[in-house]
Amino acid sequence: MKKTAILFLLISVFSCKKEQPKEIVIVESKKVKQSEMAALMLKMYDKNLENKKLVLEGKQPKDFPKEFLNIHTAQLTDPSDKKPSFNAFSDFYLNSFKKVYETSKDSLVFRHNNAINSCIACHETTCVGPIPRIKKLLIK
Ligand code: HEC
Repeated sequence: MKKTAILFLLISVFSCKKEQPKEIVIVESKKVKQSEMAALMLKMYDKNLENKKLVLEGKQPKDFPKEFLNIHTAQLTDPSDKKPSFNAFSDFYLNSFKKVYETSKDSLVFRHNNAINSCIACHETTCVGPIPRIKKLLIK
């Protein structure tokens, strides 16, 4: 019981600030209610991981996932993270992400990395914790 309390404390301290240690991530996914935004982010993460694999195989991702447009309306864990620049960063991200689906095959790596860099650009202003994880989506 005491241990759980300490972990919760750590979650509130670390979320968005630092890369979270593994055991906390597990506790978090089981016990803490996830915000709509966090859930959407995890889907975006998975989709971009899928896209990275496709692009590395020289294949173009198909069917732009329209649910990602919800980035404009999804509720955040901490609404004060929603800075005035948030909408601009959301559009910047959605535009670069759409280009992955519209580009010619020889620009795929470039377009994919642009999209990932636009995730990172917003995170630098709002939520630095997941940046090391997001960087793994880049194609070197
Ligand atoms: C417009 C700003 C913005 C953009 C663009 C953005 N993020 Fe986020 N991201 C956030 C914010 C704010 C949170 C914190 C959400 C919360 O706690 O409610 C977050 C949270 C996350 C998390 C942590 C989720 C969790 O709680 O476990 C991951 C992973 C993540 N983002 C990955 C990505 C990826 C990958 C992309 C690009 C495909 C991306 N983000 C684009 C602002 C952004």
